[in-house]
Amino acid sequence: MFVNSNLHISRRSFLLAGGGLAAAGLLRSWPVRSADIQELRIAAVPARAPLTGETHPDTEVWAYDAKVPGPVLRLRQGDPVRIVVENQLTQETTVHWHGIRLPIAMDGVPGLSQVPIKPAERFAYEFTPPDAGTFWYHPHANSLEQLGRGLAGVLIVDERDPVPVDRDILWMLSDWRLTTDGQIAAGFGNHMEAAMSGRVGNMVTLNGTVPTGERVRAGERVRLRLVNGSLARLMALRFEGHRPVVVAVDGQPCDPHEPDDGRVLLGPAMRVDVMLVMQGEPGRSYAVTDDFYDGLGYTLTRLNYAEGAPVRATPLDIAFRLPPNPLPEPDLATAERHEITLQGGMMGGGKLSGVGGISGMATPGMDGQAAWAIDGMSMTGDGQAGMPPLFTIQRGRSVVLTIRNETAWWHPMHFHGHSLKILTRNGSPVPHRQWNDTILFAPKDIVECAFVADNPGDWMLHCHVMDHQMAGLMTVLRIA
Ligand code: C2O
Ligand code: CU
Ligand code: CU
Repeated sequence: MFVNSNLHISRRSFLLAGGGLAAAGLLRSWPVRSADIQELRIAAVPARAPLTGETHPDTEVWAYDAKVPGPVLRLRQGDPVRIVVENQLTQETTVHWHGIRLPIAMDGVPGLSQVPIKPAERFAYEFTPPDAGTFWYHPHANSLEQLGRGLAGVLIVDERDPVPVDRDILWMLSDWRLTTDGQIAAGFGNHMEAAMSGRVGNMVTLNGTVPTGERVRAGERVRLRLVNGSLARLMALRFEGHRPVVVAVDGQPCDPHEPDDGRVLLGPAMRVDVMLVMQGEPGRSYAVTDDFYDGLGYTLTRLNYAEGAPVRATPLDIAFRLPPNPLPEPDLATAERHEITLQGGMMGGGKLSGVGGISGMATPGMDGQAAWAIDGMSMTGDGQAGMPPLFTIQRGRSVVLTIRNETAWWHPMHFHGHSLKILTRNGSPVPHRQWNDTILFAPKDIVECAFVADNPGDWMLHCHVMDHQMAGLMTVLRIA
């Protein structure tokens, strides 16, 4: 039996939503040409993948189209797409299109936005991506294990007009915990780990395999799309001999800028697009390192320059700006304000006390045990029907959220269905006009962000360290 989303209903409700927003002047409406909806298909299947390269036998994984990462889905900004997902696993799944501003029925959260896809069934996701940029897709059912076993892929929405670069390179970075024979270690949902840094692994792959180096040519201007698809590993990349310029964060263009200390910081689920001018010498090799964890730095990969003269005599300007996306600008003067507090974890001032708690039904191995809470409430699992919203926002309102991390741990906090404009961090204005769908919090950080609540639905706000989400660092905001 197949579960299909109804084409007519979803198209009509989307058009209604789009029309309303366009009327409110919030979202540019793209023409929908019903004749040529792009149709894509992916299947979640058990498979084997060469994660470790030649050194070990292939690893048993769960993967989209039997590939790790799954196929790169390439969409065009403003063009409707229909993506049919087939579940060939022996457990339920869903797909979440991380960072895409789409209708709630296509958001992929079990119970909250759709009935999960049962084994041997399908679901057709339909949406029109309003924003160009670098996004990704992953399951939202049994997320810790399904993502941890390899179900993830990159979704690129191309700008209406091509961006003038010599090459567009994608690095999908994933962290794995492998046994000595190269298989994925058991023990997903360890409660101790969930209350600390989460399931950080012991091997990082680049586009699904041990990095072997990137071949480049002197003088090239490259758009490098970085995606951290890890369960829990944070990354801070440095490019020896190069000066990466950040041009987009979580898919959304920002003012081009060099990152602080030259480190590109990437929490789980975050994406950063950098422009790199290949300013090295022909024939030489330059290290790209990740030194996020003190004393645990390693060489991620290398930029290996081909011999021969630079491709051009004068390097192209690196500080160019990507075309803006049609994001609604929050009106700070009339915005409603809310505070949200992240609580719990080990060494964060003791145990969770007086936590209300609603426990997920789908937390295998975790017994619905909460280690974290948002405003005193622990919602565990991946999402389910009937999760009470933390608060309700009237549609169309501008909102300012002040999110405080009271814990002793880092959290990449992700909000579904919207991009958040970052206003301040620990009281200082955040420059470069950055919009995130996933905001990285250092221990004790306080971040102020704003958005227009233009997308009706019950939207998840959760930590993207998967064990943290499963163990209670999750809530729902309702836009009605
Ligand atoms: Cu990428 Cu709710 O997640
Ligand atoms: Cu998301
Ligand atoms: Cu977290």
